[in-house]
Amino acid sequence: MGLIDDLDALQARAQEMIAAATDAKKLEEARVALLGRKGEITQIMHMMGKVAPEERPVLGKRANELRRMAESLIEHAAGDLKRQAMRELMATESVDVTLPGARPTIGHAHLINQIKEEIEDVFCGIGYTVESGPQVETSYYNFTALNAPMDHPSRSARDTFYVVDNAPGSVAHPEQHAHGESDVLLRTQTSGAQIHIMEHQKPPIYAIVPGTVYRPDTADACHLPQFNQVEGIVVDEGVTFGDLKGTLDYFARAMFGEDRQTRYRPHFFPFTEPSCELDVSCHVCGGKGCSFCKHSGWIEILGCGMIDPNVLINCGVDPDRYTGFAFGIGVERVAALRYDLPDLRTLMTGDMRFLEQF
Ligand code: DAH
Repeated sequence: MGLIDDLDALQARAQEMIAAATDAKKLEEARVALLGRKGEITQIMHMMGKVAPEERPVLGKRANELRRMAESLIEHAAGDLKRQAMRELMATESVDVTLPGARPTIGHAHLINQIKEEIEDVFCGIGYTVESGPQVETSYYNFTALNAPMDHPSRSARDTFYVVDNAPGSVAHPEQHAHGESDVLLRTQTSGAQIHIMEHQKPPIYAIVPGTVYRPDTADACHLPQFNQVEGIVVDEGVTFGDLKGTLDYFARAMFGEDRQTRYRPHFFPFTEPSCELDVSCHVCGGKGCSFCKHSGWIEILGCGMIDPNVLINCGVDPDRYTGFAFGIGVERVAALRYDLPDLRTLMTGDMRFLEQF
């Protein structure tokens, strides 16, 4: 029998073997027996080198056909077996479409943003608008227009982040702003927004401005180099200190509880006269004194005062016709007081075990 007959016989056997493979394991066995390293077809291919040169083209072509046929049959058989297995699985096992899926974790607003929004809600409820101001300011808006003298200590580069002035045509005049490398700074307080608002709106003004402020403090339990304030400004005819007290008493009770007492303690701010700090009776001990309020019974929550006439004049507002009050609330401070946070840095570090509690 010639090699060509061997090839015909092998083809018939290969077809039979592949057809007889009723599962993946048997099919793999057939593949190894035919096309594996020592498989029958592989061996025939190896034999081609020994065939007489004149027979080689015909036999080689036939052997190649056989190999390709076997490969293709095996591939099809494998596909058929897979589909059959899937059909069987679907016939015997049903899919429970009521099984709950993987639940995505839903985030929520950061505590500081929650408190900011709560403060906004309180003031929107009594007719205030919510405004915004730039975080990069000039010393005019952050200090000068707010009546801060040129030698006020808060202007020093130790208390204010000065940044390079990149405005086109700007020239550094260090002699005019001896406190930093330029006249441009990261705002240290939201109070500068009072100036922007009065420059753009005519009284009556009833507005709050929430925003981030910056000071070169090293972060510790009670200080952050970046924190948030909510500024408030009211300018209208006939506004008195009584209006300031009524408004801020209302705010303190809305934020900290109806039964809170308030105390207005004289203080100094360049842009308000008179100025004070507002204390709220301690909600932990009810004002009796405890470790939370450092045994004073009171907790400081904001600075406030009647807008200094100089500030009104700086903004083109007639101080004989209009008066007003302003206040600045520390948002981190309110959060710390509300939740007795021992360390403000936990608000910045992004540890979800802490933040998820709120
Ligand atoms: N800007 C002040 C600060 O950062 C807070 C402040 C005090 C704001 C009195 C005011 C105010 O509007 O009237 O410490």
